[in-house]
Amino acid sequence: MMQPSLIPAPDPNPLPAPYWVFAVLLVTTFILHIVAMNFMLGGGVMALVAKWRSKDREIGNRVFIDLAKKLPVLLPATITLGIAPLLFVQVLYGQFFYTSSVLMAWPWLLVLVCLTVAYYGFYYASFKGGQRPGRAGAVILGSIVLVFLIGFMLSNNITLSQTPQIWGRKYFADPAGWNLNLTDPSLFPRYLHFMVAALALGGLLVVFMALANWKRDNAYARQLLQFGGKGFMYATMAQVVEGVLFLVSLPSGLRLLFLGNDPVATMLFLIGILGSIASIVLMAEALRKEDIRMAAYHVPAIIAVVIVCMATMRDMLRNAYLAPYFRPGDLAVRTQWTVFPVFLGVFAAGAIFWFVMIVRYRKHAADHGQLRASKASEAAG
Ligand code: HEM
Repeated sequence: MMQPSLIPAPDPNPLPAPYWVFAVLLVTTFILHIVAMNFMLGGGVMALVAKWRSKDREIGNRVFIDLAKKLPVLLPATITLGIAPLLFVQVLYGQFFYTSSVLMAWPWLLVLVCLTVAYYGFYYASFKGGQRPGRAGAVILGSIVLVFLIGFMLSNNITLSQTPQIWGRKYFADPAGWNLNLTDPSLFPRYLHFMVAALALGGLLVVFMALANWKRDNAYARQLLQFGGKGFMYATMAQVVEGVLFLVSLPSGLRLLFLGNDPVATMLFLIGILGSIASIVLMAEALRKEDIRMAAYHVPAIIAVVIVCMATMRDMLRNAYLAPYFRPGDLAVRTQWTVFPVFLGVFAAGAIFWFVMIVRYRKHAADHGQLRASKASEAAG
């Protein structure tokens, strides 16, 4: 295995479970992290679009407030669900990820500042959105810009961690820790790929809100369906073009993995593209027929498959980038059979806990909505 001197030696402790266990956990928890992030970022953008672009001001403000209330929940969900892949990435790729984090130390530390300020902004908008909608819109915009910046830092760090051959050049050009990875041709297409995906899932979040309101306030729910469904559809159409740009921006040897050189990668790529196109067609049909079941169940089911394919492809791409320096098979493994079942048990308990939290959150939101709808009808009557 080629080992440029700048790559630190891997942790001498053997892995406490086989490589594939951590690889599966990394991809699984990354998917959870990225879905929460997409709902938060896409939901925030949809809130602003509703507020500033809606023809019906009253409805636009209502969608804005409903979405703004979700943001202070979705941001910590993104953070908590980011910690798990952070741990797994350190276990498997620590020597790459630590070094890239050191190379871009200052922008990387600034992520914490951006997170804290964005969080305050979301709380402010959530509490004051009803009383001061104008200012709340500006505050959410500020927070969203910070969240876009955080995503950009993440993409810089991940791409930098996969390209050790440029570390030396970067470090000696600027040893002060202000390096980004702006010269990597795949950086912006990759980053945009994540951001456009966030807009699409933000649209789906609004479709889920339509589902929650379908029986209680059907007129509002139909407007939500049209607004969210269109947001999802246009963003996914843009994503098909953006995805091609991302593919073209990859080094040719890696690009060809998805174009026939690796059968699994090619199959995942095809399922991803076909699934995206199918979801656009189905959503268009759901909007035409105002079919909430198709929009809120069938389309998300297809998108779930697309996300799993894309996240797996992303991991295969990382291993392909790192192939000259890293082979998973070379990692020492000493499975800790006494601790491993405890770990899996705690992991499963954590997953169940999350599920219960989401069910409770949805129930609370539904009761709250019911209360508001009955107050509104009382006031109208
Ligand atoms: C709230 C704002 C955040 C946004 C917008 C965001 C966005 C992203 C994006 C776009 C990626 C993929 C980057 C790429 O592959 O090019 C990513 C990966 C990742 N994020 Fe986040 N993230 C956020 C917060 C966090 C936090 C707070 C943590 C840790 C606690 C975290 C942990 C991770 C990890 C570990 C990965 C990489 C996983 C891997 O390499 O497989 N993120 N994030």
